[in-house]
Amino acid sequence: MTVSTNIYKPFRARLEKVIEESPLIKTLVLVPETEFSFKTGEFIELTLDGIGEAPFTPSSSPFVKDRIEVTIMKAGYVTGLMHELPVGAVLGVRGPFGRGYPIETFFGKEVLILGGGCGLAPIRSLLYTLIEYKDKLKKVILAYGSKTPRDCIYKPLFSYLNSIDKFEAHRSVDIADENWKETVGVATVMLDKVKVDIPNAVAVVCGPPVMMKFGTFKLLEMGFAPKDIFLSMEKNMSCGLGKCGHCMMGEYFVCKDGPVFTYEEVKNQPHIW
Ligand SMILES: Cc1cc2nc3c(=O)[nH]c(=O)nc-3n(C[C@H](O)[C@H](O)[C@H](O)COP(=O)(O)OP(=O)(O)OC[C@H]3O[C@@H](n4cnc5c(N)ncnc54)[C@H](O)[C@@H]3O)c2cc1C
Ligand code: FES
Repeated sequence: MTVSTNIYKPFRARLEKVIEESPLIKTLVLVPETEFSFKTGEFIELTLDGIGEAPFTPSSSPFVKDRIEVTIMKAGYVTGLMHELPVGAVLGVRGPFGRGYPIETFFGKEVLILGGGCGLAPIRSLLYTLIEYKDKLKKVILAYGSKTPRDCIYKPLFSYLNSIDKFEAHRSVDIADENWKETVGVATVMLDKVKVDIPNAVAVVCGPPVMMKFGTFKLLEMGFAPKDIFLSMEKNMSCGLGKCGHCMMGEYFVCKDGPVFTYEEVKNQPHIW
């Protein structure tokens, strides 16, 4: 394997497997032809030759070096075509870019994670990382919401997390079916049920903008300090390199200064949600 040194030039990755997570979400398992590593929360630009590219945060473990998993929600043109790719297809990858989660600052603390919809993709990568460092953490709580049970992704992940010492995972759906035995309601209702030692905890939020907004407000209400709330911001991006300005959020380039920010850093910036 060679190592990619040109950040403008995509390296090739072969589609090894496609996992259907929900009616609108698929995970592509990619085998990079170039040595690749990333830190959890950093993102890549995934290219379809001659068609276009889009930013995604790998959903796999940064400790796994020979595969990259990317979980993609069908949102428009490029993601629609990515959903149709056959096994064996070759994609381009640029990156990794941006600033991920400052894992070392979580050591010695409890970590409360609020996720919604496809926002569980970067969170899964974060969870795999926290599992590696579990001896350095007090507790990890995941609260994940989706619209319906069919929209809930990574179904086996929840029983796996609940089997690990110091980890607990909760799910909610907005609209239940007759088999649903867990919480019913928007994702933030789970925050009323979890026990967290707030002065010794950090919170992570990733999901649709409305959940990010009300999730953050709920965490503030619970007593979390803005500096202890970590948000993964998604803005329309192009270059991914701090050059084109597409991703500007006030004084920040989300692609370069983020996508992970504390609420303290962004609370006074315009249009954060
Ligand atoms: C740092 C980062 C990480 C991301 N990680 C993931 C991920 O892991 N999984 C995933 O499914 N999606 C992720 N996204 C969103 C993904 O990049 C967009 O859904 C994708 O670019 C849409 O491309 P499209 O051509 O299919 O849609 P388009 O036809 O271009 O647009 C469809 C809809 O998606 C919106 N959109 C377009 N580009 C973006 C964008 N960059 N960010 C947010 N919304 C956008 C448009 O406003 C429109 O409403 C991430 C975005 C960012 C910035
Ligand atoms: S995407 Fe071009 S500056 Fe951020």
